[in-house]
Amino acid sequence: MTPSHIAFIMDGNGRWAERRHMPRKYGHKMGTQTLENVVDLAAKFGIKTVTFYAFSTENWARPQSEIDYLFGIFRKFLSEIDRYKQKNVKLRFIGNLSRLPEDVRDACVEMTERTKENTGLNVVIALNYGSWEEVTSAVNRLLQSGKTSVSEEEIKNALYTHDLTFPDVVVRTGGEVRLSNFLLLQSAYAELIFTDTLWPDFDEKAFVGVLDEYSSRVRKYGGLKKGDAKA
Ligand code: IPE
Ligand code: IPE
Ligand code: MG
Repeated sequence: MTPSHIAFIMDGNGRWAERRHMPRKYGHKMGTQTLENVVDLAAKFGIKTVTFYAFSTENWARPQSEIDYLFGIFRKFLSEIDRYKQKNVKLRFIGNLSRLPEDVRDACVEMTERTKENTGLNVVIALNYGSWEEVTSAVNRLLQSGKTSVSEEEIKNALYTHDLTFPDVVVRTGGEVRLSNFLLLQSAYAELIFTDTLWPDFDEKAFVGVLDEYSSRVRKYGGLKKGDAKA
């Protein structure tokens, strides 16, 4: 089975560059090429939605020069609307955009607006995203609307991902085996795939490897695997 929604924790850019005795920034630059390549691969393999973790609520702890460089990359990506429009991708953003520099926030809104009629791959960028921030702001919004108790459905609808499907698979490159505050509720039943491949090296072979690994998994959602019903 092909997953409908793949979410990527794009990790390992810094180490990729350090191994080449280059500044970490170079790894981030190369990582953006991987992102575009993965967008094209996802479209080619018939995936419906692909989410990329680009900047976490914890990444503000990085040196200001690295943060500035990353935002330079985001600005460049956001200026390439026409290219993504041509790819027929529908872009949107999850995370607390209000803390982003105003021009970046405006560009996110513009990109979402200008690609909303596209009918191809959904591309979701998690920018200043963290699950704890997402849940906290969702709960506060529900409280402000006067609610004193909430249903699972109401929580789900108050998350940044309210109009998206949950990821079928979360892929983390770079060798770390953790979720780093990414889509914690949405990935409650996602398959998790951790690969040592560093994000800038994540190519078509690695992508196909993820699809193969996913199709070997048995998703049971607390039930039994087909054929085990007699147990
Ligand atoms: C991930 O790569 C990119 C972002 C967090 C923006 P890293 O920068 O975390 O790379 P490593 O983990 O240091 O190699
Ligand atoms: C996770 O990577 C965040 C993104 C990929 C945007 P990090 O490199 O920031 O995660 P930790 O600090 O190793 O957990
Ligand atoms: Mg990292």
